[in-house]
Amino acid sequence: MRSSLLTGAVAAALSFSGLAAAADAEAWKARSIYQVMIDRFARTDGGSVDCKLYEFCGGTWKGLTNKLDYIQGMGFDAIQISPVIKNMEEDTSVGEPYHGYWSEDLTQVNPKFGTKEDLKELVDELHKRDMFLMVDVVVNHMAAKFDNKPPPKVDYSKFKPFNDEKYFHSYCNVTEWENSTNYQNCWLYPYGVALADLKTESSDVVSLFSKWIKDLVSTYSIDGLRIDAAKHVNDEFLPKFVEAAGVFSFGEVLTGVTEDMCRYQNKTKNLLPGMPNYLDFYPLNEAFNGGSFERLQEIKIQAVDACNDTLALGSFIENHDMPRFASQNQDLALAKNAMTYVIMNDGIPTVYQGQEQHFIGGETPSNREPLWTSDYNTEAPLYVLAKTLNKVRKNAIKKSPEYLKKPSEVLIAETNHFCQSKGPAENAVVFCITNKSSKGDSYEMAVPGFRDSDEVVEVISCATTTADAMGQINAYMGQGEPKVWVKRSAIEGTDICPKTTVDGPKKDSGAAASKGAATGVLMAAVLGAASLLL
Ligand SMILES: *[C@@H]1O[C@H](CO)[C@@H](O)[C@H](O)[C@H]1NC(C)=O
Ligand SMILES: *[C@@H]1O[C@H](CO)[C@@H](O)[C@H](O)[C@H]1NC(C)=O
Ligand SMILES: *[C@@H]1O[C@H](CO)[C@@H](O)[C@H](O)[C@H]1NC(C)=O
Ligand SMILES: *[C@@H]1O[C@H](CO)[C@@H](O)[C@H](O)[C@H]1NC(C)=O
Ligand SMILES: *[C@@H]1O[C@H](CO)[C@@H](O)[C@H](O)[C@H]1NC(C)=O
Repeated sequence: MRSSLLTGAVAAALSFSGLAAAADAEAWKARSIYQVMIDRFARTDGGSVDCKLYEFCGGTWKGLTNKLDYIQGMGFDAIQISPVIKNMEEDTSVGEPYHGYWSEDLTQVNPKFGTKEDLKELVDELHKRDMFLMVDVVVNHMAAKFDNKPPPKVDYSKFKPFNDEKYFHSYCNVTEWENSTNYQNCWLYPYGVALADLKTESSDVVSLFSKWIKDLVSTYSIDGLRIDAAKHVNDEFLPKFVEAAGVFSFGEVLTGVTEDMCRYQNKTKNLLPGMPNYLDFYPLNEAFNGGSFERLQEIKIQAVDACNDTLALGSFIENHDMPRFASQNQDLALAKNAMTYVIMNDGIPTVYQGQEQHFIGGETPSNREPLWTSDYNTEAPLYVLAKTLNKVRKNAIKKSPEYLKKPSEVLIAETNHFCQSKGPAENAVVFCITNKSSKGDSYEMAVPGFRDSDEVVEVISCATTTADAMGQINAYMGQGEPKVWVKRSAIEGTDICPKTTVDGPKKDSGAAASKGAATGVLMAAVLGAASLLL
């Protein structure tokens, strides 16, 4: 891994001017990622076809290149794409390799997604737009069709460059998810497909992989990697692979247990620079599904303590492996709150295609719906919200690079609300999310985080408020909507809320104002009294 003090903007300017600047953790922290599953994002013809979710649907790199406006229009300045390597060709009892995770030949790109030139064209177009490319890579295994009669009969000569049985662990099925020898050396999920487990502790495999990834990164000017199933290869392999790649990498470590995840981002010796933040993922989901936000705060405190750098984790609520957020509850206000947390939280926001269209698919492959069914609607409420929030985040970084340097401060974490402040006091961004849903009542809540007489704008509704002597603002909550406030001076001259109104009680607030905020949080009990606060 190259260490550098370059900010994202400087790194981008350098790469733009043709000087090679490897994208390191610091450059990635300023970015916001949109995750694309190539087969399901856009077809070359831009058209819409019906397809079965366990078969190829026909998305391509060219299709993606043609639709970058859709992604950039939401304010994302990086994309993460599914693996680019040639896969096995057979259909299996668990479907076709439409997702790209069943590698067979690492020396060729996946002809289902296009040609080498198509992939290069995608990268060129991204870099022209000052967008980064993160590519998903599979290092744990190579794949072969399996007739479900163990042990699998694998023709190793088909694999490139790992064309011999000697590069692989002998067959055993992963059965002990708490025993690392077992889940690292045995074969994952032997059903329909055999995921022949590479002997990543052998020096032959390390050197073939190092050579391969160096070459892939330089051939396609890749800016970052996602390492699939990182937890399932031996620890020592990971830093060697990341170093050979020379770019920032997320490694997939699927666990909600702080020690299990943070040991990969150890304060003395990193195994991985970054990971998708599964620690936040579980309690965040729980808070919107009958739980409370207290658990989220607990886990965040643990993570800041145990991980070397939570600011290099990927903040997410959806990906291609997990049931969609809306598969559990279709309330739109809840999805807005989840999106707000993902983009305004610490770390690198990562939004999975379809999240912005409020897709509702559950378990795989239902969570991999083709995006064209949405007609790429740029007026969808979550698309519009992501656009606003990415702008606000980018502006905050521009105003104060410190925004990216320190973990957020939790202001309120209780049953129904979670509020956080990010960035230096003179340019703080404060948000509150709630799990009350669109049926939520109207009420007022005092939110700290600003300074005496600060004039602030809530950027989703473009309504202004002034902080009191204690730096608290009066939040007019209603219909379960999230709120994000910045100082007015921080957005002056930008296209964020060029027109504002003065915030006040919600018109629809016939319902009695309710209690529900944390102890210590000032409540304006009745709406009549609230108007005095204006
Ligand atoms: C692998 O182990 C799982 C239990 O972890 C079991 O359900 C499955 O049938 C096993 N598969 C084979 C091919 O042995
Ligand atoms: C862990 O798994 C390995 C490989 O399957 C096995 O040999 C070993 O006995 C297991 N260890 C324990 C403590 O069960
Ligand atoms: C970090 O890694 C070092 C070297 O592997 C190890 O000695 C140390 O215990 C680890 N620290 C934590 C907090 O895991
Ligand atoms: C810990 O994170 C910092 C960035 O915050 C980085 O500079 C440093 O190299 C990391 N430590 C290790 C051991 O990787
Ligand atoms: C919000 O939190 C409360 C308290 O834990 C819970 O009763 C409620 O079900 C949650 N709301 C949703 C939509 O999950």
